[in-house]
Amino acid sequence: MTIDLSGLPIAITGAGTGIGRATALACASAGMPVAISGRREDPLREVEAEITRLGGRALVVPTDVADPDAAAHFIARTIETFGGLYAVFANAGYGLRGPVHQLTDRSIRDIFETNFWGSMHVIRPALTHMLGHPAARTPRGHILMCSSCLSKLGTPFTGPYSASKALQDHIGRAMRLELAPLGVRVSTVHPVGTRTEFVSTAAAHADSKGRGIPPPEAFTQPPERVARAVLACLRRPRAEVWTSHTARLAFALAVAFPGLADKVLARSLRRAGEA
Ligand SMILES: NC(=O)c1ccc[n+]([C@@H]2O[C@H](COP(=O)([O-])OP(=O)(O)OC[C@H]3O[C@@H](n4cnc5c(N)ncnc54)[C@H](OP(=O)(O)O)[C@@H]3O)[C@@H](O)[C@H]2O)c1
Repeated sequence: MTIDLSGLPIAITGAGTGIGRATALACASAGMPVAISGRREDPLREVEAEITRLGGRALVVPTDVADPDAAAHFIARTIETFGGLYAVFANAGYGLRGPVHQLTDRSIRDIFETNFWGSMHVIRPALTHMLGHPAARTPRGHILMCSSCLSKLGTPFTGPYSASKALQDHIGRAMRLELAPLGVRVSTVHPVGTRTEFVSTAAAHADSKGRGIPPPEAFTQPPERVARAVLACLRRPRAEVWTSHTARLAFALAVAFPGLADKVLARSLRRAGEA
């Protein structure tokens, strides 16, 4: 079954740049009214202008997703403005680099507040709305979380980031099975290295130390590639969204053979001059 997305509202966090921005534009092109949020207003206004140029509808609500009240307000404004809410893409997030023993408690807690709790802060109010009405269609809603390929494997110098993405992955799977009988789809998105502000934001983070292993060039992609995959998942819901079959298989093998994966990671660290 392919879902006609035209007229179905979506709320996207972290939509001023990168994957969120590309997905907002792709959704608007498919006829979805799009509510966009992030902390900085200027990039959101630029996305709004592009959506308007495309003939779409946009709502800008500057929001810090780590603040539960602000996130709930974003969802409430979306429902009020568009008269409903069909989908949420909890995408806002950032990276943090450094050996776990050198990172401060504060910086580790903060990354969970944004990457994991920031997702929960928008998803749960959205679900209250989706489940609060008799189903008018099937599915009655779709929740997507931008996790990562690194959700499947903790890698050196990205431990807390991988853990925050694993939380999204595990909670996402549980919610998928809990909500399927209630008519709500849940999908997790697992990008490989994507050319966005992500790397510079992680490097600039006050507490970031060390470079870690750079993603192989063959596994880097433009954000539009992720956006196309997310749009395809909105049209035909599936459990997990991957943009690289090779990466998906490599991470599955790494989970199945942890000793071998450690050897490969240790060799990559030596090559990157980190060990
Ligand atoms: N790029 C990659 O290689 C890669 C790979 C796998 C997964 N991902 C995931 O993809 C998602 C999007 O990242 P991206 O690659 O598109 O990087 P990006 O361009 O840096 O986008 C991240 C967005 O999140 C927003 N954000 C960060 N903290 C926020 C907060 N507390 N409240 C609200 N918004 C916040 C940022 O906007 P403001 O600064 O204005 O708030 C920014 O627009 C992230 O969850 C990331 O973990 C990225």
